[in-house]
Amino acid sequence: RVLAGRRDDLAGRHVVVSAGGTREAIDPVRFIGNRSSGLQGYALARTAVARGAEVTLVAANVTLPDPAGAKVVRVESARQLRDAVLAAAEHADAVVMAAAVADFRPVRQSETKIKKSSAEPDPIHLVKNPDILAELGETRRARREAYAAGDAPAHDAPAGRGRDAGNGSDAAREAGAGGPRPRVIVGFAAETDDVLANGRAKLERKGCDLLVVNQVGENLAFGTPDNAAVVLTAEGGSVEIPRGPKEDLADVVWDLVAQRLA
Ligand code: CTP
Ligand code: CA
Repeated sequence: RVLAGRRDDLAGRHVVVSAGGTREAIDPVRFIGNRSSGLQGYALARTAVARGAEVTLVAANVTLPDPAGAKVVRVESARQLRDAVLAAAEHADAVVMAAAVADFRPVRQSETKIKKSSAEPDPIHLVKNPDILAELGETRRARREAYAAGDAPAHDAPAGRGRDAGNGSDAAREAGAGGPRPRVIVGFAAETDDVLANGRAKLERKGCDLLVVNQVGENLAFGTPDNAAVVLTAEGGSVEIPRGPKEDLADVVWDLVAQRLA
């Protein structure tokens, strides 16, 4: 276990962290949201900066001060979070999805405040939001497949380079540094029951490398400085993180990410 700031094992790495909870507008004054303070995501961003990483923090409705040294992108809705995370992920070595993303949003948003009347209110119809973590996993899987077949670039190159401007060897060179990006994808899951079985199924469904599973309840997780979790790995392993500060959990996550990047 390392102490934050004692090691530069993420120097030269670009990591993306999402934090907070998305808000899906019902009307100009109301939303559907998630209970998330952003504390765990901010701890991840701070510890990654301390370990030398270039950090993009995509923050959804967080009221905490910006962590020094991180680039902060503020968003509100799941669709805005998706756009910001996917854009940053193109250049990232690792993406950690600590944000609580609203699974559903209202089909329609009222442009004016919904008023009370003598009748009962209309129901709010919901539609599914995009699953950002699953999309990251699926995109990388497809790129790995294309790269293995030797007929496509390993990832979409930054504008002006690679696919359009360059030749096939650009893609090969970039992929040669460890394969399609992001090389490490980390999800979070809060579960109330069958914690490990649900976590294992979720990791596989989403195609991520690591899944940090929190047990919700007993004053853990939401809005508290402490957290306890089990990190599941794609190879079937698990690492237990005892109850402690969110910074400690963050450092264990970065230990595992750094190992996978090495
Ligand atoms: N996540 C995401 N996009 C979504 C929903 C979730 O990227 N639309 C990410 C979260 O940031 C988290 C992980 O997926 O890292 C797991 O979120 P969770 O809500 O536990 O998983 P779901 O697939 O939404 O399953 P459910 O809520 O039904 O348990
Ligand atoms: Ca969910």
